[in-house]
Amino acid sequence: MRKTIKKIQDYKKEGKKITALTAYDYSTAKYIDKFVDLILVGDSAAQVVLGLDSTTLVSIEEMLVFTKAVSRGVENALLVADMPFGSFQVNKEETMKNALLFIKSGANAVKLEGGSDLMIDNIKHLTQNSIPVLGHLGFTPMSVNSLSGHRIQGKDFEKTLNILKEAKKLQEAGCFAIVLELMPSESSKFITQNLDIPTIGIGAGVHCDGQILVSDDLFGKYDRFKPKFARQYINLKEGMLKAVENYCTDVETGVFPNSEESFELDVEEVKKLENYR
Ligand code: KIV
Repeated sequence: MRKTIKKIQDYKKEGKKITALTAYDYSTAKYIDKFVDLILVGDSAAQVVLGLDSTTLVSIEEMLVFTKAVSRGVENALLVADMPFGSFQVNKEETMKNALLFIKSGANAVKLEGGSDLMIDNIKHLTQNSIPVLGHLGFTPMSVNSLSGHRIQGKDFEKTLNILKEAKKLQEAGCFAIVLELMPSESSKFITQNLDIPTIGIGAGVHCDGQILVSDDLFGKYDRFKPKFARQYINLKEGMLKAVENYCTDVETGVFPNSEESFELDVEEVKKLENYR
């Protein structure tokens, strides 16, 4: 059975760190699901799956395909889907309609970036109508243009306090947890200590109630950009390159496929083929 929202929230009270990763396809989701508490179908799919330059470019249709595939691989973790840019910067009825598409595709909750008044109203509408919401503050990749690049947020007392104020509004609007991205450890610690709901950090230091990474960064698979905060646990890119190189050599030298990798006819049938004129 998948983890419940309550379970994720209880971890904060128990002092157990929440483990989370992104996934975009069935088999990766299945492996990740053996260990983590929460899986996010992140809109980082724009970059790591689709090769686009910005998360703002992924469509709702594309995100729904990834969500359905991941959902088929998830049994244990809570599954959250990112609502893409444009799908929730609309009125609350439209936001609800779009959020429902993700829930119907197998997600247990949706994630919305930002803490503006429009976001708060839309989040309230979702949570009051049985759609759990994960908030996302600090650096919000969809706002990369208005934030003028990948900048660290909450860099002084005033700015940290502003993020806390937004976080409290998200909490009041019914968010079950909040992702805090790209901010100093002391800022996320202050925000975490002043909220009842858990925080899940990415590039936000060790004091958050949990951590999330883009799985392609952990696997060493995406090589266009390596964030300072990401830790690579395996070099899948090197492994994949070596495997493909070896495969091509084996095909070219006739070493692949071997007899165990081939199907054979009965001897009698082979004779008939050989004697056919
Ligand atoms: O899309 C994404 O990968 C995210 C990160 C916070 C994990 O939103």
